[in-house]
Amino acid sequence: MADFLLNAWYAGARANELGEQFLARRLLDQPILFWRTANGDPVAMLDRCPHRFASLHTGRRVGDAVECLYHGLRFDAAGRCTRSPYSETPPANAVVPTFPVVEHQGMVWIWMGDAARADPALIPDHPHNVRADLRPIFGHETFSGNWQLGNDNLMELTHLFFLHTSTIGGYKPDAGPVEGEEYVVRQVGTQVHSHTGTPRVPNKAPIDMGVDPVAHPLIDRWNDIVWDMPSAMKFAMCATPAGGPRDVAPYMYQSHLITPETKCTSHYFWNVARTFELTPEGDAKYLHFFGNIFRTEDAPMIEDIQHNMGEADLWDLKPVVLPRDRGAVLVRRLVARALAAQAGAEAIAAE
Ligand code: FES
Ligand SMILES: [Fe+2]
Repeated sequence: MADFLLNAWYAGARANELGEQFLARRLLDQPILFWRTANGDPVAMLDRCPHRFASLHTGRRVGDAVECLYHGLRFDAAGRCTRSPYSETPPANAVVPTFPVVEHQGMVWIWMGDAARADPALIPDHPHNVRADLRPIFGHETFSGNWQLGNDNLMELTHLFFLHTSTIGGYKPDAGPVEGEEYVVRQVGTQVHSHTGTPRVPNKAPIDMGVDPVAHPLIDRWNDIVWDMPSAMKFAMCATPAGGPRDVAPYMYQSHLITPETKCTSHYFWNVARTFELTPEGDAKYLHFFGNIFRTEDAPMIEDIQHNMGEADLWDLKPVVLPRDRGAVLVRRLVARALAAQAGAEAIAAE
């Protein structure tokens, strides 16, 4: 059974990565070439010439066309061959597959399944990335692990208090249960919503949560996660003086968007929109801060897990399930169901 869900929007690139230059990236185990037309429209096409299969990203940009470096066939943004140096009319089968692509809220989304089903209304909504009163930053990392390990990592945040104690997870005095702690997971339509609240924790964090640590040494903090199929998550993080009102605006929003690269390697696009240090220096500082946490703490852990799991399915290894795994387990179930439905549809289509 295929491991990737094809009929879904995936984050393919950050919008600011696409310009005049070609961007080559492997997604869902296919070579993809991104570029923009002269009027700014993003383009995604297979990064493989249909003649002798050279990578098109090594070619030349000629107006709104890509000219293959090897023998000079030229393709427009729709993948049609517009010029062959060898005949008046280009060969009819000289076509490069293209993919629906939409720029939305700072990201470029690609649909690699049935193009007829690529409805832009299905793109996950992450409006914090375009809010004028926040400063969104856009990061991109890769990790050596199956994309579902990225879902697992982000839907199960107790790892903060063990893996991230030296960076963002050191605030909980005892990593065990705290009285009054909240953990609610529910399915809402095709989404999974997860709420985690921890009362009366030390007001200590390397970021400004909007509560004065001198006046309020203890805070209640919580985060709300919304997961969209197959691997888009948004976080809203809040804090209030211990026992204080809950109707406070988040001090930070985050997007976590996983896109399979190959079966056992993945892209991780992350965006953070914050309410503090709203300066270019703050942008640079937090791009490094959050990216470095992932690179030095999460990615090595995921890589270790992938190594230990090999090609096995998670459930075949009979993992211990802990109470705080509910969100990650629900996501796993929904993905497994969708993959099975996809396999069923493919089997019927092949009959
Ligand atoms: S491989 Fe591209 S034109 Fe020959
Ligand atoms: Fe983490």
